[in-house]
Amino acid sequence: MAKVTIDGYTIEVPDGTTILEAARKIGAHVAPPTMCYYSKLKTSGGYCRSCLVKVSKGSEKDPRPMPKLVAACRTPVMDGMEVQNNTSPEVIEARKGVVEFLLINHPLDCPICDQAGECDLQDLSYEHGAPTSRYEFKRRTFEKIDIGEKIKLHMTRCILCYRCVKVADQLTDHRVHGVLERGDVSEISTYIQNVVENDFCGNMIDVCPVGALTDKTFRFKSRVWNVNPYDAHRDCKKCGGKVRLWYKGEEVFRVTGRKDKWGELVEFICNECRFDRKRTSNWVIEGPSKIDRHSVISQNHYVLEEPPHKPMLNGLEVVPRNYQIEENKK
Ligand code: SF4
Ligand code: SF4
Ligand code: FES
Repeated sequence: MAKVTIDGYTIEVPDGTTILEAARKIGAHVAPPTMCYYSKLKTSGGYCRSCLVKVSKGSEKDPRPMPKLVAACRTPVMDGMEVQNNTSPEVIEARKGVVEFLLINHPLDCPICDQAGECDLQDLSYEHGAPTSRYEFKRRTFEKIDIGEKIKLHMTRCILCYRCVKVADQLTDHRVHGVLERGDVSEISTYIQNVVENDFCGNMIDVCPVGALTDKTFRFKSRVWNVNPYDAHRDCKKCGGKVRLWYKGEEVFRVTGRKDKWGELVEFICNECRFDRKRTSNWVIEGPSKIDRHSVISQNHYVLEEPPHKPMLNGLEVVPRNYQIEENKK
């Protein structure tokens, strides 16, 4: 076991644990942001530098600080290590620079982007970015392409985090897409416009931290804060069948995997559950999803904890909106 102190909080973790995982164990208030790391995907992390931290004491044996900021998702803890995340002005300044780099070629078209409201880059920019950019050159742009029957790739928004490539590598049989070219011309693409067709390829949409990979069955149908998420399950032979249904009125607008508090899928789901089961009757509804209050998706989503008290207005009975939704699900 190794004892590590992050922003003044000390925790003991098994040897080999990364600084990021140790910080997550302490809690969200000390965990660095991540754009490429994904705990369920092997070898993820190390690409985006959002998780930079300062190691002010290397270990009990060698207390010298590390000379440069390090990526928390790739650096294992040492016994006696001391780390600064939010408490280091150097880290805060460096993270601002990382956001500026990530946004150099990014269109920032959030008002028309399907990912708005559930976008990690949007959150990262608001929480850690600078209000202006110093970049004055032409940004690179790409045509949108279909990389499968149900997936649209808008490369202009991609931050090359490699998560979708890892999904294809680790969850599907034959990977036909990846990162082509090098440097500032690198892009995610399929080999000579091959099509990504696999039972689990839909998970690439869920792991994409930005609006580069989107669900063609949901694109431009609704803003995410105007749909109501419900946890549901079904008996599925291909995956665990535990999903999130996104309702507008009584219609299921989209099906996604369930995400944990780090924004990562709890379980990967198959394409049949995601794209072909969009009727309430296909599912056993468990109840409204618990969405973090800091997310815009939780806006106006109230959960009734007691039997509804039906208020009267001008002599008429008023049924609260969310109770109507609950009733419709029965
Ligand atoms: S990917 Fe995120 S930051 Fe980029 S345009 Fe879409 S919502 Fe905005
Ligand atoms: S398409 Fe999305 S998941 Fe894939 S590398 Fe780009 S940003 Fe990452
Ligand atoms: S999350 Fe650590 S480098 Fe991207």
